[in-house]
Amino acid sequence: MIKKCLFPAAGYGTRFLPATKATPKEMLPILTKPLIQYGVEEAIEAGCTTMAIVTGRGKRAIEDHFDISYELEHQIKGTLQEYCLTEIQNVIEKCTFSYTRQAEVKGLGHAILSGETLIGYEPFAVVLADDLCDAKVGVLSQMITLYEKYQCSIVAIEEIPLENSNKYGVIAGVEIEKNIFKISNMVEKPESQDAPSNLAIIGRYILTPDIFDILRETKPGKGGEIQITDALLIQAQQGKVLGVKFDGQRFDCGSIDGFVKATNYFYKNQNQ
Ligand code: G1P
Repeated sequence: MIKKCLFPAAGYGTRFLPATKATPKEMLPILTKPLIQYGVEEAIEAGCTTMAIVTGRGKRAIEDHFDISYELEHQIKGTLQEYCLTEIQNVIEKCTFSYTRQAEVKGLGHAILSGETLIGYEPFAVVLADDLCDAKVGVLSQMITLYEKYQCSIVAIEEIPLENSNKYGVIAGVEIEKNIFKISNMVEKPESQDAPSNLAIIGRYILTPDIFDILRETKPGKGGEIQITDALLIQAQQGKVLGVKFDGQRFDCGSIDGFVKATNYFYKNQNQ
């Protein structure tokens, strides 16, 4: 069973400056809820009970968010605002949070390796809070169900326009069941002419713990950073990585455009 979910959250969020100068990008809200809370709720729905968050300098607001705020709760008790904290109180009751700091920002692979101390030697999930997903059955739940059958690393994938391939890890593989691909190749942010397909990895992963040993040996790749895509390629070459085209909607909230789309989508849904 997968009980732990890792959230890399050390990035600077430069695309959202000046908003992210003193506020972690993971705390930017879609309506009234911070991005990372959506991710944590998805992980809880999937059965995870430990949230392992890899933070960095300037990210303390994340820890404060997932904690009780006695003064505030006391202040609004009995008022109309009391219900506004119900969701976050439920989250805090259902799981525990542990944190470690990534001293240097050296890529997603490095962030995941920094989380080893919180995960130990067991399979785990990874959520990139920037990728906000909405689905009837949560994307992580869909992936964990698949993990129970195949017991190997799994990435969520979706079709993208080829001209966007340089924003994603891109896979090649054979469809072994409807929407499930056995991955044979993966390339981090290729130019469109070098992309092995139009299937891009989005920010949901299930990883088997041998990934940590592979990451320790992984040399810096694209952008001089340690890439999880490169480490997963080693597992894929052993026939051990699946890609799943999930059911649901995903918004790239790491971009202004995606962030606005998500805001409009959730606003419309809320008013229906
Ligand atoms: C990361 C991964 C990339 C993946 C993407 C999904 O890139 O390196 O393979 O496709 O997340 O959002 P980033 O967006 O952090 O640059």
